[in-house]
Amino acid sequence: MKAITVEPRKPGTAQLEDIPEPDVREGSVLVEAIAVGVCGTDVEIVEGKYGWAPPGKTRLVLGHESLGRVVDPGQSVGLKKGDLVVGIVRRPDPVPCPNCAVGEWDMCRNGQYTERGIKEIHGFMSQHWRVEPEYVMKVDGSLGILGVLLEPTTVVAKAWEQVLAVGQRSFWEPRTALVTGAGPIGLLAALIGKQRGLEVHVLDRVESGSKPELVRALGATYHTGNVAGIGFEPDVIIECTGVGQVIADSAQGIGAGGVVCLTGIGTGGRTLGVSTADVAASVVLKNNVLVGSVNANKRHWFKAGEVLARADRKWLARLITRRERPEAFMQALHREADDIKVVIQFSEA
Ligand code: BGC
Repeated sequence: MKAITVEPRKPGTAQLEDIPEPDVREGSVLVEAIAVGVCGTDVEIVEGKYGWAPPGKTRLVLGHESLGRVVDPGQSVGLKKGDLVVGIVRRPDPVPCPNCAVGEWDMCRNGQYTERGIKEIHGFMSQHWRVEPEYVMKVDGSLGILGVLLEPTTVVAKAWEQVLAVGQRSFWEPRTALVTGAGPIGLLAALIGKQRGLEVHVLDRVESGSKPELVRALGATYHTGNVAGIGFEPDVIIECTGVGQVIADSAQGIGAGGVVCLTGIGTGGRTLGVSTADVAASVVLKNNVLVGSVNANKRHWFKAGEVLARADRKWLARLITRRERPEAFMQALHREADDIKVVIQFSEA
């Protein structure tokens, strides 16, 4: 079968190649791939900056934002041939740490977790893939190809849960939220904010095109410029850029008692005119929390499914701005100006 593979930590090694059909030991559920979303993490892996091959192997099958159709439900309960499904990304560490032991693999404490298409387990960019019954999620059939948005939605479903959980340390009823970055993660974070009844604002560099339109279509407010320029101090900031300056501005621009959730993963860069101590002083004096959030456990996958099922299909459809064939995977990995979510399509939904 065809698969998109890479030798992690070696730039320029990604290729579409023929590999054997997936081994039954990878899971009793056999799935035919429909589409796989591409995200910044995939780009980093292909650029040789991140990723780990399975033990004893040199190459990794890429892809963690899956959507497929069940060919053989194997030992699963409740799945049948033809169902649309998505594979969960992370697996608990083998020790296991206390969090993995209770099913919170997203909060793994010892770093020995594994992740499909990222860390030591093959991903979903292959014509067929297998999955263990307990790590597969059935998708509302009416979503069709939009089911490929489930994985990025799980990431923000967890982020929102973290925000609301830490907010419970004092009397706190958040009314306003700012999302920084109008990429797929930012837009899905804004969607959840609206579904939760908050007044939502989104900040991005782009001044025109589909990002501002999508934000307005949600009933949220679009801003360009910087965090200070939005004109008020939000109760919640979901930071989705990973850019140092935006993070520092968010930590200083959040309202008293407010929570900033960091979801972006950036590197380097200089932050102008503000020191870490200045940022910390602001956080201390306003009782803020800066909380980092990565990955998602089964509860978040379930919640994300509900978010998508409730969302306007036409709005969700506009998030998928490009579909590429597996042969054109390099184009899929290359970001174009108005891209939001690019998917590699293996078969029809
Ligand atoms: C994925 C997460 C993963 C993280 C770190 C993200 O792109 O969506 O599932 O935990 O990368 O590897």
